[in-house]
This record gives sequence, structure tokens and C-alpha cells, in this order.
Amino acid sequence: MQETKMQFSFGDGRKLLIETSPEVFQPTGTSGVLVDGVTISLTKPEKILDLGCGTGVVGLALSQEGLADGPIYASDLSAEAVELTRSNFIAAGREVIGKVGKIFDPWVGEQFDVIVDDISGVAQEIADISSWFQNVPCDSGADGIALVSQVVLEAPNYLKPGGRLFFPALSLSDAPRLLALARQNFSEVKIVNTKTWPLPADIASHRELIMRLVSEGKIAVEEKFGLMLWKTDIYMASL
Ligand SMILES: C[S@@+](CC[C@H](N)C(=O)[O-])C[C@H]1O[C@@H](n2cnc3c(N)ncnc32)[C@H](O)[C@@H]1O
Repeated sequence: MQETKMQFSFGDGRKLLIETSPEVFQPTGTSGVLVDGVTISLTKPEKILDLGCGTGVVGLALSQEGLADGPIYASDLSAEAVELTRSNFIAAGREVIGKVGKIFDPWVGEQFDVIVDDISGVAQEIADISSWFQNVPCDSGADGIALVSQVVLEAPNYLKPGGRLFFPALSLSDAPRLLALARQNFSEVKIVNTKTWPLPADIASHRELIMRLVSEGKIAVEEKFGLMLWKTDIYMASL
């Protein structure tokens, strides 16, 4: 695997040095908004699953925050991602149990206090034109929520009593439908962090496609200051 180092910055100025690779999802602003949302919501170390771990950036940041009770558990559909996660944890002197597999397949019989989901959740036609998912699995369906919906439906089986699921709901997917599903499956669903971003140029240049997806209700984009804006909302769903 051809690896390069990347310094990742979080909202509060913390920095994390990790290896990345062209075959593995490159951490984005959403990774940081997710870590910050989880960090402000947890008050003690817990048993944490990093689902859709990519480079391992989310789990590693939470481990370094002292929020992991024992190792971080991490999985991804991509074997290269899990390999990179293991080497990033080794380099940081942190403990991880990494497994390869689809959604919850690697964790049958396990239960966690906290599941942090970051599995691909962007409308397929957006994923196809973006640089985010080059060489990275993103079988997230026309409205972007095919995989995350499965996470929301199955997560209760993998959570201990009182457990919580954190997940990003991106406006580049049908976030309202995802939230309605989460509210049917959890007793409380609340937003813990949010950030609005300008659409990257490689996506914004496909204006006609974007407007069609908006009119079909598959994504939501706001036009302001001559920019097209989209949003990452981080939710905490409690059993
Ligand atoms: C948006 S990236 C997030 C990676 C990492 N958490 C980060 O912040 O950089 C989504 C990850 O989900 C993984 N993925 C895609 N489909 C999956 C599936 N069906 N089951 C498990 N992981 C999947 C991808 O390989 C990718 O690493």
C-alpha cells in the first residue's frame, strides 16, 4: 500500500498525525465534526465500536481523548482500511481490534456501549462525481441512506442496555427519512453537532444534476452568498 502522512485537525484545534492511502477514504471535515460530537457527549471511558473506520481516524481520536474503555473496536468493508487502521493505532501506541466485513457482520454476538457509525452515506450520483469515493466502497443507494438505514435498524442488537449510536446525517442524502427511521428504533434521537460547508468544486460544477437530486428529494442544498451549501448533522440515538 502506498501511504502518505496527513495531519488531521479537529474543531478545538487538536491535531492527529495519521497515515493515509489512495485506496482508503481520506478523512474529511465530517470525520472531525463526528469526533467532536461524540467527545462532547461522552463523560467516561466506554466500549466503543468505530464502524466504517477507514484510516481509523475517528476511533484513534476518541482513544486519544481517553474515551475508550479497553481497545477501540473497528471495522470496514475494505481490508486495506482495516490494515491501515491497525498500523495507525500501532504508530500511536493505542490498542485496536480491527475486523474486515460488511456493516455489523464482523460483530455478531458482541455488544458495545457506543457505536460510532461513519459508513458511506452520500447519494450515489453525488458519490460518483466526487473525489471522496475514488477507490472507496460507497454502495449507498440513490438517496444515500441504504447503508446507514441498515446500521440504524440493526444497531440496537449490538448495543448494551442504555447504549448509544452516533451517526452523521448528511444533507447530500435523504437525511429526513433516515431520521424518521432512527426515531422509530430509538427512544431518543438528538443532534449533538452540526456544520455547514460549501460544496466542493468537483461536485458544484454539476449544477443540473444537483438541482435534479434536490427536486427529487434525495439531497438538500441551500444557495447563499453565491455558493451551494450542504450540511453535516451528527445525531446521538439512545436506546
Ligand atoms: C465516509 S468513509 C469514513 C471513514 C473514516 N471513518 C473517516 O472518517 O475517514 C466511509 C467508510 O465506510 C466504508 N464502507 C463502505 N461500505 C461499507 C459497508 N457496507 N460495510 C462497512 N464499511 C463500509 C468505506 O470503505 C469507508 O472506509
